Amino acid sequence: MMNVPFVDLKIQYATIKSEVDTAIADVISETAFIGGKYVNRFAKNFAGKYGMKHCIPCANGTDAIYITLVALGIGQGDEVITVANSWISTSETISQAGAKPVFVDIEPDYYHIDENQIESKVTDRTKAIIPVHLYGQPANIKRIAEIARKYNLVLIEDCAQAHFAEFDGGKAGTFGNAATFSYYPGKNLGAYGDGGAILTNEDELYEKVRMYANHGSLVKHQHRIEGINSRLDGLQAAVLDVKLKYILEWNRRRLENALYLNKKLSAIDEITIPKIRENAVHVFHLYVIRTEKRDELAIHLKEKGIDTGVHYPIALPFMKAYEYLGHTREDFPVAHHCMDRILSLPMFPELTKEQMDFMVEEIKNYITRK
Ligand SMILES: Cc1ncc(COP(=O)(O)O)c(C=O)c1O
Repeated sequence: MMNVPFVDLKIQYATIKSEVDTAIADVISETAFIGGKYVNRFAKNFAGKYGMKHCIPCANGTDAIYITLVALGIGQGDEVITVANSWISTSETISQAGAKPVFVDIEPDYYHIDENQIESKVTDRTKAIIPVHLYGQPANIKRIAEIARKYNLVLIEDCAQAHFAEFDGGKAGTFGNAATFSYYPGKNLGAYGDGGAILTNEDELYEKVRMYANHGSLVKHQHRIEGINSRLDGLQAAVLDVKLKYILEWNRRRLENALYLNKKLSAIDEITIPKIRENAVHVFHLYVIRTEKRDELAIHLKEKGIDTGVHYPIALPFMKAYEYLGHTREDFPVAHHCMDRILSLPMFPELTKEQMDFMVEEIKNYITRK
């Protein structure tokens, strides 16, 4: 028996401890807790690494979406198209802005929004599309961007799970009007607390986002509108700036681990391994397999010391929160089928071959004992 945690943030901390500890001590000694040098430096570096003009840091990835929607003037009477399988941040922020979330089913290969069903959901009230680059892999963002252009819709890419993923040689997050990020600790680029950001190349949107996230003010004590208070703090920015130097290497190792698992698990008929788009760089935030008797397999693995998760056990349209939309399983057959079968296995850069071999062995043991 061997313990395989779902993620292990302690190992990563050990490898960058001296740099992180120094960065944190610097922020404290300068009492640069809110705004200032560290936040500005990280914002500049993050935008720079993406080749984007503006990065507006904020409190978390949920706020990033909400702020962007409000800054774009999306609200009452508007509809925003998004995907049936995501974390609720993607859709609750649409409602919080005052608009209506319109869900689209997923396609079964990559679990992303089914781009072929988007156009059938467009009405004269549709203002925006929010695709999610789920599990660390870009959705078919070129096709989605074409649809957005055709119907004159705003495109906001939810990149919470896909830092530095790529599609057709471009980074996921650079195809739309704005991209939103989460730096939740377990994300590929994670802070030591909450954090988030918005990337955009549009100067006007940049101003509006910055203003709304800062109480509606760009100049101290001059509030042009009412806004909210959503900011990344200096300690988080300093930690993120250290980690930014390593993110591509960590992503590379995640991919390497995923390819190793794919090779080993492809021999098991009862397991559907994650499929990588031909023209994509997948950064494997999550490694998601599909299998019948998912729950029994998860229990077996837990008994052997292997942690797993489900992302997500209830697709958004079937949540109590969206009961009022009156959806049935027939409206989202693929999302409904997948939610009972998907299983996220441990995935992080420092996962060892021994741990992966043990996971594969135990999956085999479970499948063959039936
Ligand atoms: C797809 C997706 N969107 C948005 C968020 C929201 O990020 P946060 O937890 O930082 O608010 C998350 C993560 O939690 C996410 O996975």
